[in-house]
This record gives sequence, C-alpha cells and structure tokens, in this order.
Amino acid sequence: MKLHVLSLLPLVSLASASYSKNLNYRSPSEHHPSLGIAIHRVVKRNDPASSYDALSLNFTHGVASGDPYPNSVILWTRIAPQSDNSNSNVTVTGYAPLYDHDNEKYVTISKSPVCVEYTVASDEQLSKVVDSGKAYTSSDVDFTVKIEATNLKPYTTYYYQFHVCGSDNKSPVGRTKTTPNADDDITEVGLAVYSCANYPFGFFNAYGNAVRKDSVDYVVFLGDYIYEYANGYYGWGDALGRIPQPNREIYTLYDYRKRLATYRTDLDLVASHQQFPWIPVWDDHEVADNVYRDGQAELNNTEDSFLKDGGISVDQRKMNAVRAYFEWMPIRQVDMDDNLRIWRSFSIGKLVDLLMLDTRVYDRSITDLYWNTEYIKQIANDAGRSLMGSRQENWMYRKLSESAKRGATWRVVGSQIVFSHMDLSGINNNPVNLDAWDGYQSNKNRTLHHLYSNNIDNNIFLAGDSHASWVSDLVWLDEKEYDSASGNGSIGVEFAGTAISSPCPWGENITLFNANNYSNIIQTANPELHWQDMYYRGYYELHFTRDKVEANFFGLPTIRQRNGWEIPIANFTVRAGENKLQRPVGGGIVESGSLKFGKMEQNNLTLDTANGTWFVS
Ligand SMILES: *[C@@H]1O[C@H](CO)[C@@H](O)[C@H](O)[C@H]1NC(C)=O
Ligand SMILES: *[C@@H]1O[C@H](CO)[C@@H](O)[C@H](O)[C@H]1NC(C)=O
Ligand SMILES: *[C@@H]1O[C@H](CO)[C@@H](O)[C@H](O)[C@H]1NC(C)=O
Ligand SMILES: *[C@@H]1O[C@H](CO)[C@@H](O)[C@H](O)[C@H]1NC(C)=O
Ligand SMILES: *[C@@H]1O[C@H](CO)[C@@H](O)[C@H](O)[C@H]1NC(C)=O
Ligand SMILES: *[C@@H]1O[C@H](CO)[C@@H](O)[C@H](O)[C@H]1NC(C)=O
Ligand SMILES: *[C@@H]1O[C@H](CO)[C@@H](O)[C@H](O)[C@H]1NC(C)=O
Ligand SMILES: *[C@@H]1O[C@H](CO)[C@@H](O)[C@H](O)[C@H]1NC(C)=O
Ligand SMILES: *[C@@H]1O[C@H](CO)[C@@H](O)[C@H](O)[C@H]1NC(C)=O
Ligand SMILES: *[C@@H]1O[C@H](CO)[C@@H](O)[C@H](O)[C@H]1NC(C)=O
Repeated sequence: MKLHVLSLLPLVSLASASYSKNLNYRSPSEHHPSLGIAIHRVVKRNDPASSYDALSLNFTHGVASGDPYPNSVILWTRIAPQSDNSNSNVTVTGYAPLYDHDNEKYVTISKSPVCVEYTVASDEQLSKVVDSGKAYTSSDVDFTVKIEATNLKPYTTYYYQFHVCGSDNKSPVGRTKTTPNADDDITEVGLAVYSCANYPFGFFNAYGNAVRKDSVDYVVFLGDYIYEYANGYYGWGDALGRIPQPNREIYTLYDYRKRLATYRTDLDLVASHQQFPWIPVWDDHEVADNVYRDGQAELNNTEDSFLKDGGISVDQRKMNAVRAYFEWMPIRQVDMDDNLRIWRSFSIGKLVDLLMLDTRVYDRSITDLYWNTEYIKQIANDAGRSLMGSRQENWMYRKLSESAKRGATWRVVGSQIVFSHMDLSGINNNPVNLDAWDGYQSNKNRTLHHLYSNNIDNNIFLAGDSHASWVSDLVWLDEKEYDSASGNGSIGVEFAGTAISSPCPWGENITLFNANNYSNIIQTANPELHWQDMYYRGYYELHFTRDKVEANFFGLPTIRQRNGWEIPIANFTVRAGENKLQRPVGGGIVESGSLKFGKMEQNNLTLDTANGTWFVS
C-alpha cells in the first residue's frame, strides 16, 4: 500500500508562491542562502495582527517595466511605510531593521510583509484584464516589488497597476509593451538610447522628452544610471536643489538603495519608467568609478583600503551595489546563480537582435586606475586582455553568428564604452582612453575578426560612458583597408551618445565655439569618425526598418531647470547591406559638432569641417 505524504506540501508551496512571485526575494542569487532572502522566514513573519495599515503605505517611486519578451514583461514598484530606505543588510533572520526617525535608531521590525496585487490589462481603464496576481514585499528587499507579468501577446501595448491587497491604495497606471516573436516580420521599431545621468549636474529632461513626444517603443539604457560620489566631489547640486542622498560617497547596501531612490525622484525619469519598458545595463558608476573584475579606482583590494573605507571590501561594495540595482531596476536576472551577470539579449522580431553587454563589472581585466596609466599603456595590446571575460565574449560571438544565421536584419550591440578608436592627442594628455575598448585591443580585434571572417553584416554598435557623441564607421584599422570618403571597408556603424546630464569631459561650462573647435580637432584626427559633438547633453533615437536605420541626435539647450526643450542636432542613415554611414554623411550639415566632409552652422559662423576654417555665413 502506498503511503500518502503529499497533502501538506501544496499548502506550504501555495503560501510561499506569492512570496517568490516577488523576484527580489530570490535575487541576486537563488541557491546561496547568504545572498538570497530566506523566504520561509519572511512567510513566518506574516501575522494579520501586525499588518501595516494599508493607508499608511505609499507607492513612493511610481511604477516601471522592463526586459520585454513576446509573452511577458517585468513590472516594478515600491510600496513602503516610509520614504526612507531599508538598512537591512540581508541577514538570514528574516527580521530586517528599519530606521526609527523619532528615536533616531535602527529598530528590528516585526511587522508583517506588505501584500500587493497587480493587474495587467490591454486597455488604459484596466477593464480587459489579461494577468493579475499577488506578491509580498518587506524591508528585506527595501519594499521593492518586481514581478513577471505573463500571458501576454507579442508586440502589444499593456497597462498595469498595483494596489495594496484588500484596499483602495493604488499605484499610478503604467504602460508597457511586449516584443514581437522572434520570427515576426515587423516593419519598424524605435529605441531611445540613454547613458550617464548625474543628479547634481542637472535635470533629466532627456528622459522626459521621448515621453512627451511618445516617439519610441523601448528605452535602451547603457549605464551610469547613478553616480557614487558625494555632492561637491563631482556635481554641484546645491544651486539646483539636487543633492544626492546620502550625501557622502556610497558603500553600504543602504547607501546604494538611498542613492537609487534619490535619482528616482526626478519627474522625467519617473515618467520614462512609467511609459516605456526599459532594457538597461550598468556601466561603472552603478558600482564605482572604473570598476573592473578585482577592484575600482577609489578602492584597492588591500587591507589598507578596507580599513580606510569603513570596513567595506571591494567585493562587498560590488555586492551591495548589485543587490540594490536588482532590487530597483525593472530587469530580469537571466542567471539566478550568477549575480554579476547582466549581459543578455533580446530578439525584436526578424528586424533586430539586441545584445546588451557588460564591459565593466563582470569579468574585465585591469583598467586605468589613474595611478597605473603607464602600465596599462604598456599592456593595452596584450593578447590575454578581455573586457568581458571569456564566458561573455564567447556568448557574444555565438549570439552574433546565430543572429546572422536566423536572418535578423540588424544586429545591435549595446556596449557601455566607445568601441571605435579615439585619437585624442590634439586636445588631451592621454592620446587614447585606456578605459574604453582602446585599452583592450585584443578583445576589439577578436570582435572585428568574428564579424569580418563570418561575413556578419548590418552591425550597429551603441555606446555611452563618454559624455559626448561619436558617430563612426565600424572599421578594423591597420588590418582592413578603409576609405573615409566612400566608407568602403567598414563592417557596420557605431552610434555613441552623449550624457543625460554628466558634463562635457573638456569642461562643464565649455562654450559652444570651443567645444566645436575641439570636436573638429578630434574628427580630423580619426579617419572613421564622421561626427563628433561634445557640447550638448542629450540622447538619440534609433528607428529601424528593413531598409534602413535612422539615427536622430537631440541636444538639450539647458538642464539647469526642468523643461522640454531640445534641438535636433544631427541625423544619420544606414542602409541595410551597406555596413557604413550613408553618404553624404549627416546630409552634409549638422547643428553642432564636427562633421567630416560637411559643415556646421552657428551664430552666423560656419565651420568648414573639411579644412577647419570658420567663416561668416
Ligand atoms: C504618504 O503619502 C501621503 C500623501 O502624499 C503623505 O501625507 C504621507 O506622509 C506619506 N506617508 C509616508 C509614510 O511616506
Ligand atoms: C549594515 O552595514 C553597515 C555597513 O557595514 C553598517 O554601518 C550598518 O550599521 C549595518 N546595519 C545594521 C542594521 O546592522
Ligand atoms: C592603490 O594602490 C596604488 C599603488 O600602490 C596607490 O598608488 C594608490 O594610491 C592606491 N589607491 C587607494 C585608493 O588606496
Ligand atoms: C589588433 O589588430 C591590429 C591591426 O591589425 C594590430 O596592429 C594589433 O597588434 C592587434 N592586437 C592584438 C592584441 O591582436
Ligand atoms: C566603394 O565600393 C563601391 C562598391 O563596391 C565601388 O563602386 C566604389 O568604386 C568603391 N569606392 C572606392 C573609393 O573604393
Ligand atoms: C559652471 O557654471 C555653473 C553655473 O554658473 C557654476 O555653478 C559652476 O561652478 C561652473 N563650473 C566650473 C567648473 O567653473
Ligand atoms: C582650437 O583649439 C586649438 C587647441 O586648443 C587651438 O590651438 C586653436 O586656436 C583653436 N581654434 C580656434 C578657432 O579657437
Ligand atoms: C533631423 O531630422 C529632423 C526630423 O526629421 C529635422 O527636424 C531636423 O532638422 C534634422 N536635423 C538636422 C541637423 O539635419
Ligand atoms: C546673425 O545675422 C543676423 C542678420 O545679419 C542678425 O540679425 C543676428 O543678430 C545674427 N546673429 C548672431 C548670433 O550673431
Ligand atoms: C576652407 O573652406 C572655405 C569654403 O568652404 C574657404 O572659404 C576657405 O578659404 C578654406 N580655408 C582654407 C584655409 O583652405
């Protein structure tokens, strides 16, 4: 006779099912108890007598969605009894401490987790419900909620809302959109591409402008969503009323949560998250300046550093940053047992395959840390150096081949740092940026070799990080013949964009005239670089069809106040199959910066960018 032992299990798993619905309880690692949250302890804490009053809870930072797939998308919110962040250091006790403002100390809370329900519908009034469910959150995960909405149809717009269980306390309504099925023959898709938002340097108007125009389907974010510095070190937020909290350099889990929360008060950032699904990756500043596999610029992996920085090691700091990032960003963790893995890919019908890289945190060989510049110069061309580590590199090459094989029209590679060579010798002490792909020549060569030798074409590389715009033909200098005038020899195009608010690297208050003069010097020094602008903060949009990609670059006249102004400063076209910028590049004229074989007009002066001469127009 069979023994029946199954009856108890469904009850237990039912109870914890709603808990594990909040992906943040399982993140950033599902199977390592010290990295994940002990859900059974959180479940145990649930006692109706110790619940928060539903009306004392607030949706403190709006809603967000991201990482769209054809049938599902990630939805995010935060529902909290306080606006401050949790100081929980993630212990396995399941009793996370909270700051008690009246008594100015941390207290161990025993309140029940907060229950929220979510509704996903195909209409804005939320009457045609397609998915709904229940999830829990608590101080353990900084009261964030991240769930995967399922049952969705490909390439369809949805609306969603959260509410506190059994109450009328509701979040704002968000909008999102799934991706098409990989084999859907869609005719167009639009992306807004952003990087480098520095809160004390100005308002995030760039995020809001794409919302106001409703001009794209998805937001692609290439990193530097936050900066780790104290106000006054890099960024002066006093005059703008934008002091990043906590106002010190950040190290602890609380610090990273609080910093993300401060940034997420910018109304244009909130609006972007509410209206568009995001596909983000981190750059270095989500952790710390020039972070790499084993360290970062301001913190050596030594005992001295450990003591100086309040007992936080390089690894612990990285862990804190990564945990807070996963809590706050509406993204999937594609590998629950690899908490540093953020590199992943998306198929947008047959039109676009999008690869999002991590050239920073995951497995990058040592970089320029300011005290070792000479050494990095010496090793920049060493064969063993990698920006990504072999696992990610091999994944990228395989994905590019698979994408070409399946016949996707465009291959889009979202890198943090600029790929193309940048000879900066005319205006810089260091002739190259060793912290970009130029410092990792072998990784660059392997990538180009893979593209050229497998005849993989229609490659569009994206980059952020540099706070300036760089539009280049994608070429293997000194290896493949390349003709600047025709573009022959190129294997694709790189669109590297400027910052949302981080300053021009050649001076925060640089004049338009000087900026354009510098751009011209750099443009002239680099045969494959067709347009460079460093004056404007802004962003760009990419509009893909089967025949071409249109890139529209927008400059912001001022970010010292919240406004919706922007200037279309340059446009570029890439025709399918051509693997280079369409000639005449930029239509021969731009509003700012330096255009090879073209002109730039401002203040009744024209810069003839072919010969570097300004004349009265
Ligand atoms: C929640 O929002 C209300 C209304 O905006 C506000 O009065 C209250 O202080 C907030 N409560 C918390 C805990 O933030
Ligand atoms: C969490 O860790 C930080 C840094 O080590 C420490 O300052 C803080 O007191 C800890 N919080 C708790 C509640 O233990
Ligand atoms: C890291 O070590 C290098 C080499 O010893 C030293 O020059 C640099 O100042 C150190 N940086 C920090 C933040 O301790
Ligand atoms: C990369 O390719 C260039 C051009 O052929 C070559 O000069 C350089 O030595 C190569 N570097 C590595 C590490 O392969
Ligand atoms: C560039 O390639 C095209 C097509 O192969 C060819 O017609 C043209 O002559 C080439 N131009 C130069 C300058 O090599
Ligand atoms: C740039 O201008 C702003 C506004 O006038 C000023 O606050 C800031 O100090 C200036 N920055 C530098 C580096 O001069
Ligand atoms: C452009 O900048 C260079 C390098 O600083 C300088 O020598 C040159 O005079 C500048 N040109 C103009 C027109 O200001
Ligand atoms: C770029 O395109 C936009 C919209 O098509 C147009 O308004 C703008 O004038 C163009 N800008 C330049 C510099 O060509
Ligand atoms: C450009 O020229 C026009 C006509 O001569 C003049 O009215 C205007 O003030 C000039 N603009 C600048 C910025 O010099
Ligand atoms: C540069 O080109 C302009 C016309 O576009 C011309 O007027 C000027 O004389 C040229 N300057 C030099 C130094 O060749």
